[in-house]
Amino acid sequence: MKRIAVFTSGGDSPGMNACIRSVVRTGIYHGLDVFGILYGYDGMIGGNIKKMASHSVSNIVQRGGTILKSARSEGFRTKEGRKKAFEELSKHGIEGLVAIGGDGTFTGAKLFFEEYGIPTVGCPGTIDNDIYGTDYTIGFDTAVNTAMEAIDKIRDTAAAHDRIFFIEVMGRDSGYIGIECGIGGGAELVMVPETKTTIEDVVKSLKGLRKSKTSSIIIVAEGLPCGDAAQIMERVKASFNDEEKEFKVTTLGHIQRGGNPTAKDRLLGSRMGLAAVEGLLKGESNCMAGVINDQVVYTPFADCISKDKPLKNDYLRLQEILSI
Ligand code: F6P
Repeated sequence: MKRIAVFTSGGDSPGMNACIRSVVRTGIYHGLDVFGILYGYDGMIGGNIKKMASHSVSNIVQRGGTILKSARSEGFRTKEGRKKAFEELSKHGIEGLVAIGGDGTFTGAKLFFEEYGIPTVGCPGTIDNDIYGTDYTIGFDTAVNTAMEAIDKIRDTAAAHDRIFFIEVMGRDSGYIGIECGIGGGAELVMVPETKTTIEDVVKSLKGLRKSKTSSIIIVAEGLPCGDAAQIMERVKASFNDEEKEFKVTTLGHIQRGGNPTAKDRLLGSRMGLAAVEGLLKGESNCMAGVINDQVVYTPFADCISKDKPLKNDYLRLQEILSI
């Protein structure tokens, strides 16, 4: 293998740049030509491919986002799109790929490998931490810290006015961000997909809080079946007399996806980038380089995509006990 390419795809996450840097420099260290594909699978289809040098990744380890840009590609879902992508990669003589992204990225990578056989190793980059085969994904730690800092600030004003705040966090189908920033931010209640909390549960627990608690923070994961944070707040509010309490909502949104990566995410991205390139050189393919119990582990894309990564049960219990 002499020529490899790296790309980022799907939702960006802080630490992706550290990972790109690591892929480029590890590749060069091993005598490879390394190419960067811009805009993920869309760039692959459009031939948006450029040669990377060691200096191309200078001064990026500390930056959020991705210098290679990202996209959620519709074109790559089609057979014609993937054929075009293969042709573009062939023009550049690309013999190996490093795909940085989440489950959508790996679903595409698996299909592409099965159709065209270009060896591919993935690095899990998503703030959601919802990928099987790694304890943590690149960007999760930064996102949790961003959310937690926001909660700290909201708590100040919530306490000053004796208010109840519903704070919506990201995470798509996974409650990892919600539970970790909830514990770190001292939330009274955490509503994540895994807890299946109902509106009645929220009302009951708010009414049951000790009298000395004059303000409360409720973390709401986005996309719950019982509604978004604003809808949940309105329904809970309806169970209280107007004069009893004041209710407010804050949706943190994409602020959780940006910002300088934490040291943990820079290190994780760097480790995974190196593991992906060295994995390719050792013959690993159609798999993701993850870190489990501090060891690099290669897990087939098929498992990363199909297997669940359940929340840690002790975290749910911990949050509950600490909120009394
Ligand atoms: O997968 C990362 C994530 O930030 C999710 O938490 C969120 O549901 C989604 O991406 C938002 O995606 P977009 O930026 O495309 O709206």
